Amino acid sequence: MEQQGFVFWMTGLSGAGKTTIALAMIEKLQARGVKIERLDGDVVRESLTRDLGFTAEDRAKNIERVTFVAKLLSRNGIGCVCSFISPYQSVRDGVRANTTNFIEVFVDAPLEVVIDRDVKGLYVKAIAGEIPNFTGISDPFEAPQNPDLHIRTDLETVDESAERAIRYLEERGLIPLVIPT
Ligand code: ADX
Repeated sequence: MEQQGFVFWMTGLSGAGKTTIALAMIEKLQARGVKIERLDGDVVRESLTRDLGFTAEDRAKNIERVTFVAKLLSRNGIGCVCSFISPYQSVRDGVRANTTNFIEVFVDAPLEVVIDRDVKGLYVKAIAGEIPNFTGISDPFEAPQNPDLHIRTDLETVDESAERAIRYLEERGLIPLVIPT
């Protein structure tokens, strides 16, 4: 069985663990020979969408451009592992409508937990009012009501989350099963 193109779309608050899970997944998938590309908010915003900010309009444009890339890759048999806050359900639905084998993944940790982690030191600044439109503090996050996969990073390890993600891709028939030798 050949792999299929897909878009594994991780949505969630900053610091919820989207990038960390993406990196763990990529390592495991590449070791299995799965063709994969990673699209990540922090990276894309330094290149393809570096002209955009964080108003609702700019976030929609950010995701629109990423969707264009994910569409080209996914329709040509490449798996895309995507990490974007993508706080609006309507915008996420737009990615689903325009890509092949879209999977909505809610990378979830309670706000108190991500504030406590504050991996990039951004929450302390957002709470102090130094970063406008900060998701979860001064800007909304519409949690998916019916995600294809729900990952609670406060309750499971990175490896558990990555393994669960890969099992999901196998069960959907998007990547070949590994036959134990
Ligand atoms: S999205 O809303 O347009 O999907 P994206 O995932 O690309 O956001 O970028 C989020 C990253 O930008 C965060 O992880 C954080 O490092 C940084 N960032 C800077 N300002 C903000 C802000 N106002 N709200 C959220 N994230 C911000």
